[in-house]
Amino acid sequence: MKEVKIESTLYVFETIEELPNEAVFLMRKAFDARDRAYAPYSNFNVGAAILLDNGEIITGNNQENASYPSGLCAERTAIYYAGSQYPNAKVVRMAISATGKSKPMLSPIPPCGACRQAIAEYEVKQKSPIEIYFMGEAGKVAKSKSLVNLLPLVFDKSVL
Ligand code: THU
Repeated sequence: MKEVKIESTLYVFETIEELPNEAVFLMRKAFDARDRAYAPYSNFNVGAAILLDNGEIITGNNQENASYPSGLCAERTAIYYAGSQYPNAKVVRMAISATGKSKPMLSPIPPCGACRQAIAEYEVKQKSPIEIYFMGEAGKVAKSKSLVNLLPLVFDKSVL
Protein backbone atom coordinates (compact mmCIF):
# COMPACT_ATOMS: atom_id res chain seq x y z
CA MET A 1 0.00 0.00 0.00
CA LYS A 2 1.28 3.46 -0.73
CA GLU A 3 -0.14 6.83 0.01
CA VAL A 4 -0.96 8.95 -3.01
CA LYS A 5 -1.22 12.69 -2.47
CA ILE A 6 -3.23 14.79 -4.87
CA GLU A 7 -2.31 18.45 -5.13
CA SER A 8 -4.47 21.20 -6.42
CA THR A 9 -3.59 24.86 -6.89
CA LEU A 10 -5.90 27.85 -6.66
CA TYR A 11 -5.09 31.55 -6.76
CA VAL A 12 -7.01 33.86 -4.44
CA PHE A 13 -7.48 37.56 -5.11
CA GLU A 14 -8.61 39.86 -2.28
CA THR A 15 -11.22 41.63 -4.41
CA ILE A 16 -12.45 41.77 -7.99
CA GLU A 17 -10.30 44.88 -8.55
CA GLU A 18 -7.17 42.71 -8.39
CA LEU A 19 -8.24 40.60 -11.36
CA PRO A 20 -6.92 41.13 -14.89
CA ASN A 21 -9.24 43.38 -16.90
CA GLU A 22 -10.56 40.57 -19.10
CA ALA A 23 -11.60 38.60 -16.01
CA VAL A 24 -13.28 41.64 -14.41
CA PHE A 25 -15.26 42.12 -17.61
CA LEU A 26 -16.41 38.50 -17.63
CA MET A 27 -17.21 38.50 -13.90
CA ARG A 28 -19.43 41.54 -14.38
CA LYS A 29 -21.32 39.59 -17.04
CA ALA A 30 -21.73 36.82 -14.46
CA PHE A 31 -23.11 39.39 -11.98
CA ASP A 32 -25.70 40.50 -14.54
CA ALA A 33 -26.67 36.89 -15.24
CA ARG A 34 -26.86 36.16 -11.51
CA ASP A 35 -29.33 38.99 -11.08
CA ARG A 36 -31.60 37.35 -13.68
CA ALA A 37 -31.54 33.91 -12.01
CA TYR A 38 -34.83 32.13 -11.44
CA ALA A 39 -34.34 30.79 -7.93
CA PRO A 40 -37.62 31.24 -6.03
CA TYR A 41 -37.12 28.06 -3.96
CA SER A 42 -33.55 28.39 -2.72
CA ASN A 43 -33.22 32.16 -3.05
CA PHE A 44 -29.62 31.37 -3.98
CA ASN A 45 -28.77 33.16 -7.19
CA VAL A 46 -25.89 32.03 -9.35
CA GLY A 47 -24.61 33.54 -12.59
CA ALA A 48 -22.00 32.19 -14.98
CA ALA A 49 -20.32 33.85 -17.95
CA ILE A 50 -18.21 32.05 -20.53
CA LEU A 51 -15.74 33.48 -23.02
CA LEU A 52 -15.31 31.38 -26.17
CA ASP A 53 -12.28 31.48 -28.43
CA ASN A 54 -14.43 33.01 -31.19
CA GLY A 55 -15.02 36.05 -28.95
CA GLU A 56 -18.60 35.17 -28.05
CA ILE A 57 -19.71 35.56 -24.45
CA ILE A 58 -22.38 33.17 -23.20
CA THR A 59 -24.12 33.66 -19.89
CA GLY A 60 -26.40 31.48 -17.83
CA ASN A 61 -28.00 31.38 -14.41
CA ASN A 62 -29.73 28.82 -12.24
CA GLN A 63 -33.22 27.88 -13.33
CA GLU A 64 -35.24 26.24 -10.59
CA ASN A 65 -38.41 24.19 -10.83
CA ALA A 66 -41.30 23.26 -8.53
CA SER A 67 -40.09 19.72 -9.13
CA TYR A 68 -36.75 20.53 -7.52
CA PRO A 69 -34.45 18.06 -9.33
CA SER A 70 -35.67 19.39 -12.68
CA GLY A 71 -33.88 22.69 -12.10
CA LEU A 72 -30.41 23.37 -13.45
CA CYS A 73 -27.34 25.18 -12.15
CA ALA A 74 -25.99 28.34 -13.74
CA GLU A 75 -22.74 26.77 -14.92
CA ARG A 76 -24.44 23.95 -16.79
CA THR A 77 -27.09 26.27 -18.24
CA ALA A 78 -24.26 28.37 -19.67
CA ILE A 79 -21.91 25.65 -20.85
CA TYR A 80 -24.61 23.52 -22.44
CA TYR A 81 -25.90 26.57 -24.29
CA ALA A 82 -22.37 27.35 -25.46
CA GLY A 83 -21.92 23.75 -26.60
CA SER A 84 -25.25 23.73 -28.38
CA GLN A 85 -24.70 27.01 -30.23
CA TYR A 86 -20.96 26.88 -30.92
CA PRO A 87 -20.00 23.19 -31.00
CA ASN A 88 -16.57 23.89 -32.48
CA ALA A 89 -15.56 26.77 -30.24
CA LYS A 90 -13.29 26.34 -27.26
CA VAL A 91 -14.12 27.66 -23.81
CA VAL A 92 -11.35 30.01 -22.77
CA ARG A 93 -12.58 31.23 -19.42
CA MET A 94 -15.56 30.99 -17.09
CA ALA A 95 -16.60 33.41 -14.33
CA ILE A 96 -19.09 32.45 -11.62
CA SER A 97 -20.79 34.56 -8.96
CA ALA A 98 -23.31 33.45 -6.36
CA THR A 99 -25.31 35.07 -3.63
CA GLY A 100 -28.20 34.38 -1.31
CA LYS A 101 -31.12 36.79 -1.29
CA SER A 102 -31.30 36.81 2.50
CA LYS A 103 -27.58 36.52 3.18
CA PRO A 104 -24.87 37.99 0.94
CA MET A 105 -22.08 35.58 0.03
CA LEU A 106 -18.71 37.15 0.64
CA SER A 107 -16.43 34.20 0.03
CA PRO A 108 -15.74 32.29 -3.20
CA ILE A 109 -18.50 29.79 -4.04
CA PRO A 110 -17.12 26.90 -6.10
CA PRO A 111 -19.22 25.10 -8.74
CA CYS A 112 -21.03 21.99 -7.51
CA GLY A 113 -19.74 18.52 -8.34
CA ALA A 114 -22.20 17.96 -11.17
CA CYS A 115 -21.16 21.23 -12.82
CA ARG A 116 -17.48 20.34 -12.44
CA GLN A 117 -18.15 17.07 -14.22
CA ALA A 118 -20.00 18.91 -17.01
CA ILE A 119 -17.21 21.47 -17.42
CA ALA A 120 -14.66 18.62 -17.46
CA GLU A 121 -16.37 17.11 -20.50
CA TYR A 122 -15.67 20.27 -22.52
CA GLU A 123 -12.11 20.64 -21.25
CA VAL A 124 -11.34 17.07 -22.32
CA LYS A 125 -13.13 17.56 -25.64
CA GLN A 126 -11.28 20.76 -26.54
CA LYS A 127 -7.90 19.55 -25.23
CA SER A 128 -7.10 22.88 -23.61
CA PRO A 129 -7.61 24.18 -20.09
CA ILE A 130 -10.63 26.22 -19.04
CA GLU A 131 -9.74 29.04 -16.68
CA ILE A 132 -12.32 29.39 -13.91
CA TYR A 133 -12.89 32.37 -11.63
CA PHE A 134 -15.45 32.08 -8.83
CA MET A 135 -16.69 34.33 -6.07
CA GLY A 136 -19.69 35.27 -3.95
CA GLU A 137 -21.18 38.66 -4.64
CA ALA A 138 -18.16 40.56 -3.27
CA GLY A 139 -14.92 39.84 -1.45
CA LYS A 140 -12.32 37.27 -2.39
CA VAL A 141 -12.17 35.73 -5.86
CA ALA A 142 -10.64 32.30 -6.49
CA LYS A 143 -9.07 31.31 -9.79
CA SER A 144 -8.29 27.87 -11.10
CA LYS A 145 -6.12 27.61 -14.22
CA SER A 146 -7.95 24.46 -15.26
CA LEU A 147 -10.99 22.44 -14.24
CA VAL A 148 -8.58 19.69 -13.24
CA ASN A 149 -7.74 21.62 -10.06
CA LEU A 150 -11.39 21.52 -9.03
CA LEU A 151 -11.99 17.90 -9.99
CA PRO A 152 -8.95 15.69 -9.62
CA LEU A 153 -9.50 12.05 -10.63
CA VAL A 154 -11.98 13.12 -13.25
CA PHE A 155 -14.10 10.47 -14.92
CA ASP A 156 -13.82 10.99 -18.66
CA LYS A 157 -14.20 9.27 -22.03
CA SER A 158 -10.73 7.71 -21.83
CA VAL A 159 -12.18 4.86 -19.73
CA LEU A 160 -15.11 4.12 -22.03
N1 THU B 1 -26.43 26.20 -7.97
C1 THU B 1 -25.81 26.63 -9.09
O1 THU B 1 -26.41 27.31 -9.94
N2 THU B 1 -24.51 26.31 -9.26
C2 THU B 1 -23.78 25.58 -8.39
O2 THU B 1 -22.65 25.21 -8.70
C3 THU B 1 -24.33 25.23 -7.09
C4 THU B 1 -25.79 25.41 -6.95
C5 THU B 1 -27.85 26.51 -7.78
C6 THU B 1 -28.75 25.31 -7.86
C7 THU B 1 -29.93 25.80 -7.05
O3 THU B 1 -30.78 26.55 -7.92
C8 THU B 1 -29.33 26.74 -6.03
O4 THU B 1 -28.05 27.08 -6.52
C9 THU B 1 -29.20 26.14 -4.64
O5 THU B 1 -28.54 24.94 -4.66
